[in-house]
Amino acid sequence: MTVTAVIGSQWGDEGKGKAVDFLAEQMDYVARFNGGNNAGHTVINEYGTFKIHLVPSGIFAQNTIGLIGGGVVIDPQVLLEEIDMLNKAGISVDGRLWVSPRSHLIMPYHKVLDGLYEEAKGAGATGTTRRGIGPVFADKVSYNGIRWTDFTGDMFEQRLKVQLQLKNKIIVALDGEALNYDDVRDTYRGYYAQVKPYIKELFSLVQDGLQAGKNFLLEQAMGTFLDTDWGTYPFVTASTTIPSAASAGLGIPPRHITNVIGVTKAYTTRVGAGPLPTEIYDYESEVYKKFGEVAATTGRIRRVGWLDLEIVRTAVQLSGVTELCLTKLDVLSGLSELKVCTGYKLNGNAVRYADVDAYDLGRVETVYETIPGWSEDISKARAFSDLPANAQSYVHMIEAAAGVPVKWIGVGPEREATIRR
Ligand code: GDP
Ligand code: IMO
Ligand code: MG
Repeated sequence: MTVTAVIGSQWGDEGKGKAVDFLAEQMDYVARFNGGNNAGHTVINEYGTFKIHLVPSGIFAQNTIGLIGGGVVIDPQVLLEEIDMLNKAGISVDGRLWVSPRSHLIMPYHKVLDGLYEEAKGAGATGTTRRGIGPVFADKVSYNGIRWTDFTGDMFEQRLKVQLQLKNKIIVALDGEALNYDDVRDTYRGYYAQVKPYIKELFSLVQDGLQAGKNFLLEQAMGTFLDTDWGTYPFVTASTTIPSAASAGLGIPPRHITNVIGVTKAYTTRVGAGPLPTEIYDYESEVYKKFGEVAATTGRIRRVGWLDLEIVRTAVQLSGVTELCLTKLDVLSGLSELKVCTGYKLNGNAVRYADVDAYDLGRVETVYETIPGWSEDISKARAFSDLPANAQSYVHMIEAAAGVPVKWIGVGPEREATIRR
């Protein structure tokens, strides 16, 4: 039995979707345990190109069973569209995708409130995906949430009535438009009718799987530094993103997690507000243009920076990472020099990530090492020895800082563009 968690070691979008897709072949279960459809995981394989928000990215491996744990928050419309998209691409999920009845639903008022809170904060806004994530998790922990299990009787109607009374008052006070009870009820009853065949309590399934020695792949959403507790609060997301979240979010005891794969981009990106110590502000530079990306969920432009080894090192320690999957090494090709952040200083003193809050992290002095780059196109490399010496040195430098091996190296977005060591 193996229970492998795949986590992002930076601020999300490290390439977790691709990693989960190529690792899924060996797995019996692939599962999401945190976050919601704020996640956007890109998978490129023989079926096409997909941006996946809720269904585990390992679903393309035909022998896997996909699980969406109770720790995941779900916008039902997004889930249904995704199931439809997969069916149309020839990936049937019927009978092999199960959604926990414990998972909370993103309601229309969560999305409205997410937007209104962001507007009210002005320049201090978090830069959320506006998918209702903060408000739905706030309702979850303040006992105001609505779960799939509420639809089996009339608990849904009872709870919705109360919530709309509360939420409409806030929405109207913030100059928003009140939501209509009948409309929301009918829409969500309609969603429930369609999602019902996929809803199943996961407890026995997971426990029996562990007992039978099955292989589980746990796909984290977001990244380590968007974690509510350990991220750059308040510029974080509303769910726990470190592997221990799989325990509450799926029902897997922590002692069963055997491996933690830290997916690490060869440089750094961030979407939304908050500190990014190695950020590159020269928007005309070659490196800025190379690193630039468009966000999979919102279509926003991702902020970019050099690789930050203090961030990777902290993620490895915090999440118990056992091996790294380095992604997008191919993107560095053609840069004559590479800068790598090896640590921070604040007021002249060396500090670690955990010593400072988000505001101080925004003003630390980054200590860089400049190393030679490589000019060769490496996208066809499939063995470590195919890489130019300077690219190999870059990998070795990451391993030395992280203290764990780099087992996979991404040299392109497609499944097969991967070096396995
Ligand atoms: P996730 O949220 O962690 O799954 O990552 P995203 O899918 O949001 O963003 C990662 C982006 O990098 C996507 O566009 C992927 O297709 C792409 N990608 C992943 N690995 C590689 C790689 O090794 N090389 C290149 N060039 N692109 C990659
Ligand atoms: P994946 O799984 C990158 C960021 C948002 C914002 C903050 C809070 O694709 O790596 P939220 O909507 O969660 O309340 O927004 O978190 N964020 C992500 N950034 N990748 C993600 O997911 C993200 N999910 C949320 O940009 O800064
Ligand atoms: Mg993403």
